[in-house]
Amino acid sequence: MINGEQRISRPLRWGMVGGGRTGQVGYKHRSGALRDGTYRLVCGAFDLDEARGRDFGVNLGVAAERCYADVQALIQGEAGRADGVEVVSVATPNFTHYEITKALLQAGIHVICEKPLFFSVTECEEIAALARDKGLIVGVTYGFTGHPLVHQMAAMVKKGLLGDIRLVDMAYTHGFNAGDDTGAGEAVKWRTNPRTAGPTFVLGDIGTHLYYLSEVVLPQLKVERLLCDRKAFIPTRAPLEDHATVLMHYDNGARGRLWVSSVDAGNMGSQRYRFVGSKASVSWSDAHPDQLHYEVQGEPGRVLHHGMPYLEDESLAADRMGALHTEGLGDSWANIYLWIAQAIDARQRGDEAFLATHHYPDIQAGLEGVRWLENCVRSADAGAAWVDFR
Ligand code: NAI
Repeated sequence: MINGEQRISRPLRWGMVGGGRTGQVGYKHRSGALRDGTYRLVCGAFDLDEARGRDFGVNLGVAAERCYADVQALIQGEAGRADGVEVVSVATPNFTHYEITKALLQAGIHVICEKPLFFSVTECEEIAALARDKGLIVGVTYGFTGHPLVHQMAAMVKKGLLGDIRLVDMAYTHGFNAGDDTGAGEAVKWRTNPRTAGPTFVLGDIGTHLYYLSEVVLPQLKVERLLCDRKAFIPTRAPLEDHATVLMHYDNGARGRLWVSSVDAGNMGSQRYRFVGSKASVSWSDAHPDQLHYEVQGEPGRVLHHGMPYLEDESLAADRMGALHTEGLGDSWANIYLWIAQAIDARQRGDEAFLATHHYPDIQAGLEGVRWLENCVRSADAGAAWVDFR
C-alpha cells in the first residue's frame, strides 16, 4: 500500500513545460507529482503567453524568476543554479514534444512527456538513444495505468487464472466532438490539424491509452497483423479521424478489437476493457475503477473490489485508499509519477539492478504507442487493409 512515506531519499526538483492555466492536462500532472512530496515544483515555462504563465506559476508557489518564457529560457536559467531543475514534464500539444524533450535531454534533464510521445518511430528511436547516452530517464504519462485493478488483471493473467488469452476487446469513446468545430477552443484546433496533432487524432489522443494498458495486462502478447478503418465524420477533420476501429491478430492466435471515437454522441467518456481467456475473463472500466468483473466459465460472476486482501500483491502494492474508500484518476496519476520518480532516483544512485525489474511507462512504452499508430495509419491509408505489424 502507498501511504505517502518517502520511497526516495529526497524530493526531485521538478519543472513543467506547458500545462498552464488554460491547459487541460496540467493539473493531472501536478496532482500526481505533488501528492507524496516526491517532487517539488521549482520552475516552469507553463504557457505560450509568457505573462500569464508567470502569473500562474507564481500562484502555484514558483519563484517569479523561475517562471520562464519558454523551454530554452528554462534550460538557460536553470543551468547555472546549484539547485537547478532535475526533471521536467512536457504537457504541451503533440507537435512540440520532440523538440522540447530533445532540448531537455541535451541539457542533462530527465523528462516526463505526454502521449502520443512523438510523430514517428524514427524520432522515438533517436530520443531513446539520446536518453541512453546521457543516462537519463524518459517517462510517459499513460495516466490510467496506475489504477490498482489494472495490475490485478495483469497478475491474474500472469498466474494463469484466465487460461490462454483468446480475445482482447477495448474501447475508449466519448461524444465531445460529435458536433463540428465552429468556435472550437485551442485544444480541439491543434488536435484536428495534422501539423500540430501528428498523423492521427483519436487514435493517438485516446487509442494509445488502450494500447498501452493492454500491454501492461498482456506483456507477453505481441500484435502480428492489424487492420484499421478510420473516418472523419466531421469532414473538416480529414485526413485525421474522429472515429476508428482496429482489428488485431496476436502472435499466440488471440484476436483483438479496439474502438476509439470522439463522436460517440451522448457518451461522457469511458474506457472499457475485456480480456477473455480459455477459462475465464476480466472486464474493467475507468468509469468504475474500483471494481473488476471476474467471470469463470460455468460459475457465477464475481465483482472484485480494490484494496481487498483477496487481491494479488501487485494490486495491493498500488493501492492508496484502502477498500472502504474510492480510488480515482488522481491516485492513478500519483502512482505513475511515483514509479517514474523511483526510476530517476535509481538512475541517480546508479542502481541498475533496481531499474532492471522496476516497471513504469518508459520511453519504450511511448515508442510502442507510436509504432502502433504508424501501423494503424498504414493500414487505413491502404483502404483498411490487413498489414503485418512492423
Ligand atoms: P491544451 O491545448 O489544453 O494545453 C496546452 C498547454 O501548453 C497550454 O497551457 C499552452 O499555453 C501550453 N503550451 C503550448 N505550447 C507551448 C510551448 N511551446 N511552451 C510552453 N507551453 C506551451 O492541451 P492539453 O489537452 O492539455 O494536451 C497537452 C498534451 O497532453 C497533449 O500531448 C495531449 O495529447 C496530452 N494529454 C494527455 C492526457 C492523458 O491522460 N495523459 C489527457 C489530456 C491531454
